[in-house]
Amino acid sequence: MAMRKRLIAGNWKMYKTRAQAQAFAEELAAAWPPATGHTVEALPEAVVCAPFTALAGLLTHLSKAGVKLGAQNVHAQTDGAFTGEVAAAMLQEVGCSYVIVGHSERRMYQQETSEAVAKKAQAALAAGITPIVCVGESLQERETGRTQAVIGEQLAPVLQVLQTLDAQGSGTTQGASAAATVIAYEPIWAIGTGKSSSAVDAQLVIGFIRSLLSAHLGAATAGAVRILYGGSVKPDNIAAYLAQADIDGALVGGASLHAASYAELLKQSMQA
Ligand code: PGA
Repeated sequence: MAMRKRLIAGNWKMYKTRAQAQAFAEELAAAWPPATGHTVEALPEAVVCAPFTALAGLLTHLSKAGVKLGAQNVHAQTDGAFTGEVAAAMLQEVGCSYVIVGHSERRMYQQETSEAVAKKAQAALAAGITPIVCVGESLQERETGRTQAVIGEQLAPVLQVLQTLDAQGSGTTQGASAAATVIAYEPIWAIGTGKSSSAVDAQLVIGFIRSLLSAHLGAATAGAVRILYGGSVKPDNIAAYLAQADIDGALVGGASLHAASYAELLKQSMQA
């Protein structure tokens, strides 16, 4: 089986002015990548998902550290009268290669539905941007044994989009578009709480997500899609998640805000 490249994505949320973002990037470039003692293959893929206003100014600074740029939201339409929204082509133009869609904070505060999230993922893929599609259950859903049902419902419209893309071929090899998607499993009760899921529990859910992908998109695509864990990931617990068979990286909020701890997360994610 081809090895999936590890992906460590920082989610800055509504933190950092342009000046603060640049200071982070400069500090990071001094600490990452490590100068010697590794192959290029050993390095994880690193992404920082910054607020819209910081994106354009960050690209050159982050690329010095070999870190890619991502956004935290995108509109489903290519353009139009949508005051306050940003289209995928606009993100692509400022150098974004990733965009987070369906983060639980947006599902909660902006009432984003799973159908809307799927359309955003579709718009990102059409613009050549990799969507990081977030799913996850609430504490109450977990405690009432509904975790798999909730994740299945959240993923259903996304799977439909990916199936259609594959059926159309998208001008690439079969399955290429679907395989370019990233899924992030983030149990809501673990986000920003310091109460992370155990690595074994995270693997159980992420293994379930991969089985859903396999049932809808085939084993080859399911084996290529990267699935991240998110929720209170820190430098001292990331290795336990990455040791699990189906966990390919992390989506990190709080611990990605400081260059030193973000660099440490990347270091802990290097592959032997
Ligand atoms: P956290 O946030 O790492 O601060 O828990 C994760 C996220 O919201 O993506």
